[in-house]
Amino acid sequence: MENILQEIDEASQFMASRVKAKPGVGIILGTGLGGLVEKIFIEESIPYEEIPYFLHSTVEGHAGRLIFGHCSDKEVLVMQGRFHFYEGYPLSRVTFPVRVMKKLGIKTLIISNAAGGLNPLFSAGDIMVISDHINFTGQNPLIGPNLEAFGQRFPDMSAVYDRKLIAISEQVALEKQIKLQRGVYVGVAGPSMETPAETRFLRMMGADAVGMSTIPEVIVGVHCGLHILGFSAISNVNRPDCMEPAPFEEILANAALAGKKMIGIIEGVLEKI
Ligand code: HPA
Repeated sequence: MENILQEIDEASQFMASRVKAKPGVGIILGTGLGGLVEKIFIEESIPYEEIPYFLHSTVEGHAGRLIFGHCSDKEVLVMQGRFHFYEGYPLSRVTFPVRVMKKLGIKTLIISNAAGGLNPLFSAGDIMVISDHINFTGQNPLIGPNLEAFGQRFPDMSAVYDRKLIAISEQVALEKQIKLQRGVYVGVAGPSMETPAETRFLRMMGADAVGMSTIPEVIVGVHCGLHILGFSAISNVNRPDCMEPAPFEEILANAALAGKKMIGIIEGVLEKI
């Protein structure tokens, strides 16, 4: 435990030596959603390899750099490329950047992912603002000694996704005439996709979209008291009774399509907070 605290300190001190400002908003960009970076006035871009104790991204569509800059006149710290449990990393490492962001003074975390739609009313290319989640990964990043410096042993999960931020997102979507779905994200470990029977089960559980990321970072974010706003880019829709393969190229293409709309919403949210 001492080690991880020290590593978080070292990584955040390194970042603070490179970035003088104190951004209040952190953004994690998921698969195919790197397009937001074009909207950022980049002050500093640091490849993950250079940051002490950061992992390196191994997934296609994930660039692997931490960007500090301005978006809609707000200072932001952006993770372009994230880490997944299915890459074989322990969750303490997957979520390490969230704690580094917290140390750097982030108050709000905007987190995005590509996800498979389970709600039959969704279409590929839609955006969903996450209203709640189901942790179905079989894992929890907080297992192990509690990091008291960050938060308490049994963090409350009764209102994980900030209701005010959801309302602002919905208002922005209305103003910009972007269709915005709202629903429950279920996180699985992956990397295999779901069978039709699993898909039916996840839908019956009450989920609207399924993905392989986000939950660990969100749990660690809640633990350390961040305001969380989450978006899923619906890259494919899974219908258990007529299930079709969702090739990775298609997922990337649809995530990028949805990503364009998501960027519009995130820009609008940043203007209003
Ligand atoms: N299942 C799980 N993860 C995903 C999917 C899916 O259908 N699409 C994008 N990420």
